[in-house]
Amino acid sequence: PPQKIIFSGIQPTGVPHLGNYLGALHHWKRMQDEAEESTRLFFSVVDLHAITVPRPKGLLKQWKREMVAALLAIGLNPAQSTIFYQSMVPAHSELQWILSCTASTGYLSRMTQWKHGLFSYPILQAADILVHRATHVPVGEDQRQHLEFARECVTNFNHAYGVSHLVAPSTILSPAKRVMSLTNPLQKMSKSDPDPRSRILLTDAADVITSKIKSSLTDSVNSVSWDPVGRPGVANLLTLLSHLDGEEGRKGGRTAAELGEGEFAGKPLIDLKMRVAELVNAELQPVRERFHEFMAQEEHLDSVIRDGAMKARESAENTMKDVREAVEL
Ligand code: ADP
Ligand code: NA
Repeated sequence: PPQKIIFSGIQPTGVPHLGNYLGALHHWKRMQDEAEESTRLFFSVVDLHAITVPRPKGLLKQWKREMVAALLAIGLNPAQSTIFYQSMVPAHSELQWILSCTASTGYLSRMTQWKHGLFSYPILQAADILVHRATHVPVGEDQRQHLEFARECVTNFNHAYGVSHLVAPSTILSPAKRVMSLTNPLQKMSKSDPDPRSRILLTDAADVITSKIKSSLTDSVNSVSWDPVGRPGVANLLTLLSHLDGEEGRKGGRTAAELGEGEFAGKPLIDLKMRVAELVNAELQPVRERFHEFMAQEEHLDSVIRDGAMKARESAENTMKDVREAVEL
């Protein structure tokens, strides 16, 4: 079988929140731990994507380091997983340009997220994946179409140059459900929410976590039931519980519905909130401690970043040699 190559990226926009952790990072760590010896894993801090939106001056460098420290803190091991800054591997941008020359604009203009003309963004995302010849790309439901676009870039490029140098990736959907905002359970937990109490950061202290969960928006019914449409705040707490207690979808784990209709049915909301707070704290405490340790180890962070860039450049150059030859560059 062809070598399995896993690629995923995350924007450096500060310390990750619980949604990033349960929806993406935790899953990355599991893939690393379950990977066979021959599997290669690339996790990119995609700083070139981050500069497409305005941001406060002077923070990007810090956010990038925080993201690397967070990736190490959740348990990514640089000996197994290549962690690197996208901008330190210029082949990502080079392949983006080359792909844009054969990309189909019809597809781009149909992509719902990019109606406003930022065509280069999805092409760079495609290049991120293709430049490492990734075979497996874990993405959330909302990013599925980007992967389809990357496949189309492969078809277009290989057809235009009569080669088969690029490899079409398959999807791995992240199994996690969305974590919703603690202050508005109809919106996903997000770092762009102006209300800091809407999200739990990996660096939040235990008492802050407990307080945010205790005051999370539920409703006026004071007992637990499973009603995701009528009671989204309660459903969100049950979903969190299912992620943390027995891991939904895995052997022995219970789904949010099972928890809401079983163990917690009819219980006071505060019991559910305190249990969620307890489990979130148990999960994040070691992550938080390691995060602060890694942030203090400046030289170690520098060497992780340097080594990651070296390995990622080597992987990208392998692909680019073939690509440049095909394009006659
Ligand atoms: P944000 O929405 O906070 O800007 P990003 O869009 O940068 O987060 O997402 C980074 C990763 O985290 C993606 O893989 C995304 O699917 C995942 N993610 C983000 N928010 C959530 C959430 N609320 N629940 C589950 N996964 C999430
Ligand atoms: Na987002």
